[in-house]
Amino acid sequence: MISPDHSRLQELETHLRTRIRGQNHVLPRIVSLLKRGQLGLTKANRPRGSFLFLGPTGVGKTETTIAFTEFLFGEGKLFRFDMSEYQTQESLGVLLGAKLGERGTLAMVYDRSQLGTLLFDEIEKAHPRILDVFLQILDAARVTMANGQTLDLSRFYIVFTTNIGGADLLNLQHSTFATMERHVLARAQQAMRPELFARITEKLVFNRLGYDYQLEIAQLLLNNELKFLREKGHALQASKSVLPFVVQRGFHPKLGARPMRDTIEKLVGDALAQRLLDAKDGGRWLKVDESGNCLMID
Ligand SMILES: Nc1ncnc2c1ncn2[C@@H]1O[C@H](COP(=O)(O)OP(=O)(O)O)[C@@H](O)[C@H]1O
Ligand SMILES: [Mg+2]
Repeated sequence: MISPDHSRLQELETHLRTRIRGQNHVLPRIVSLLKRGQLGLTKANRPRGSFLFLGPTGVGKTETTIAFTEFLFGEGKLFRFDMSEYQTQESLGVLLGAKLGERGTLAMVYDRSQLGTLLFDEIEKAHPRILDVFLQILDAARVTMANGQTLDLSRFYIVFTTNIGGADLLNLQHSTFATMERHVLARAQQAMRPELFARITEKLVFNRLGYDYQLEIAQLLLNNELKFLREKGHALQASKSVLPFVVQRGFHPKLGARPMRDTIEKLVGDALAQRLLDAKDGGRWLKVDESGNCLMID
C-alpha cells in the first residue's frame, strides 16, 4: 500500500525542479539519497544521508537545502552553522560546550528538534578539531557534549558546503561541465581531509548559472514579490523588459543570484512607492523607466 508520505516523496523531484533552476544534473542524485533516507534504507547509526555541495557562490546550494528540508520536515528544521565562526580552537567549545554543565550550539539545536537537516557552510574554514566532530557525526551519528550528554543525530541529513575550487569554475568558462566537475572534486579532495571527503555520501558540484537560468530565477523571485504586493492590494503586471533589467542589476559575476531578491524588492518597491506618492491611479504595468535607471508603474 502507498502511504501518503510515500506518494509525497514521489513529488520531491518535481518540487525541487520548480524551485531550483539550472541544477538539474544534481537534483536526481539528491532526491535518490533523500528517498533512501526517508524510507530507512540508509545505514543505521549514521545520519540519514550526507552531502557535500560544491561550486560557485549564489547558485543554489543553500536554496536546495532549504527546499528539500521544508518539503520533508516543514518549517524550522534546517539548522545552519557558519564555519567562518568556528575557525579557532575555542570554537570547539562553542559547538559542544566548553566546560562541564555548559550547553554547546549543537545541543541547543537538539533541544529544538531531533530530526531535520544540519547545514555546515564553508567547511574549509572550520578548525581541525571541528572536523574531528564531523567525522564522529558521519561515522556514528553521535556526538558527546562537554556536559556528558550524547546526541543521537541519526534522523538528520548533514549538508556541507565549500567554496573550494568554486572560483576556478568561473575561470574555466570554456570547458565542459564534466571537466569542471572533475577539477573541482579533485581540488576539494586535496584540500579537505581525505577521510572526511570519503565518508560523505554524495559530493555534488553545482554549476554556474547561464543567462537563461538567471532570467528564470529573476522570474521566480519577481513572481513572489508581485504575489506579496497583490496580497497587500497592489495588483501589478510586469512587462517584458523588466526581467533583463533586474538580471542586469541583481545578478553578480562573483555573488551569483545572491543579490537578486533584495534588488527586486528594492526596484519594485521604489516604483510602487513613487506611484503611491504621485497619487496617480490606474496604472498597473511595471516597466523600465525611460531613463533606464529604475522601474516605474504606468
Ligand atoms: N539555482 C537556483 N535556482 C533558484 N534560485 C536560486 C538559484 N541559485 C540561487 N538562487 C537564488 O539566490 C539566492 C542565493 O542562493 P544560495 O542558494 O544561498 O547560494 P549558495 O549557492 O551560495 O548557497 C537564493 O535565495 C535564491 O533566491
Ligand atoms: Mg550557501
